[in-house]
Amino acid sequence: MTFGFGPGLFDAIGRAADCPAVVRELPEFPTDRLEPRWSGGDLLLQVCSDDQLPLSYALRRLVRDARSIATVRWTQRGFNAARGSEPPGTTPRNLFGQRDGTANPAAGSAELADAVWVRDGPPWLVGGSMLVLRRIRMDIDTWDDFGRDGKEMAVARRLDTGAPVTGGTEFDEIDTRKVDERGFPVVAASAHAVLAADRSPAERMLRRGYSYDDGPTAEGTPDSGLLFTAYQADAATAFVPVQARLAQSDVMNLWITHIGSAAFVIPPGCTEGSYVGEPLLSG
Ligand code: HEM
Repeated sequence: MTFGFGPGLFDAIGRAADCPAVVRELPEFPTDRLEPRWSGGDLLLQVCSDDQLPLSYALRRLVRDARSIATVRWTQRGFNAARGSEPPGTTPRNLFGQRDGTANPAAGSAELADAVWVRDGPPWLVGGSMLVLRRIRMDIDTWDDFGRDGKEMAVARRLDTGAPVTGGTEFDEIDTRKVDERGFPVVAASAHAVLAADRSPAERMLRRGYSYDDGPTAEGTPDSGLLFTAYQADAATAFVPVQARLAQSDVMNLWITHIGSAAFVIPPGCTEGSYVGEPLLSG
């Protein structure tokens, strides 16, 4: 379980000024088609499990406990491949069939710690993080009809292995300077992973995507996509500039639409006898 604090929580405890500006309001991006029913929120409960049964139980108990002080704004359900369907540590696939998460900072690395955890800031936030959640609809029917080469060039990674289209194996970097026999670049500057790649350590984030599938609709069309979640020490220097580049020229925008958005402060964990958020809520 992960808990997140949105702007209204800071307002409710009389600490409005403590809510980071980027959590209060993410900038609008030109490709946004956000729907209020999938956006915003003042308290996030992210409940994850390999098994639906305990998940249902835990969520119900949490919501029951909060019922006297809060109402449910939205619920979004996401999934990944079942545990055990691939060897542990395998990068998951999204509904486009891509391995999604390859270039994430490695588990346990200093790079991951630097990207995710707040080091400088008010004491109640140090050791915490920020979460950006985007509900991104994926037009899987038209993606299906697009050829394999095109799909791979749109991201600059292969569909089967996740390796760069410029060669190597999954965890190799994309060689953006590689040219073909006529001297043309092999990968486009507008390929998703090329554009999204961090241009400074401050842009790094940990992406943990979950697919959603609430379809098919009555018309028989899909209602599915990605619950994009990214953890970062500061969304203002990570998610915001990266998404600004993607909104401007990502080739994948042909098949994806951001329809929901929310940002939260993730307070640090707590020890026995304390509770999550205590340093903020009792301060
Ligand atoms: C439906 C929407 C999206 C899909 C299907 C998607 C898919 C992918 C895939 C397949 C990769 C290459 C493998 C990997 O490194 O994970 C990738 C890389 C990446 N994506 Fe996305 N992505 C989506 C949205 C986003 C958004 C909204 C952001 C951030 C604003 C983002 C940031 C990144 C980053 C930082 C990388 C790694 C780039 C690198 O360093 O090589 N993606 N994405």
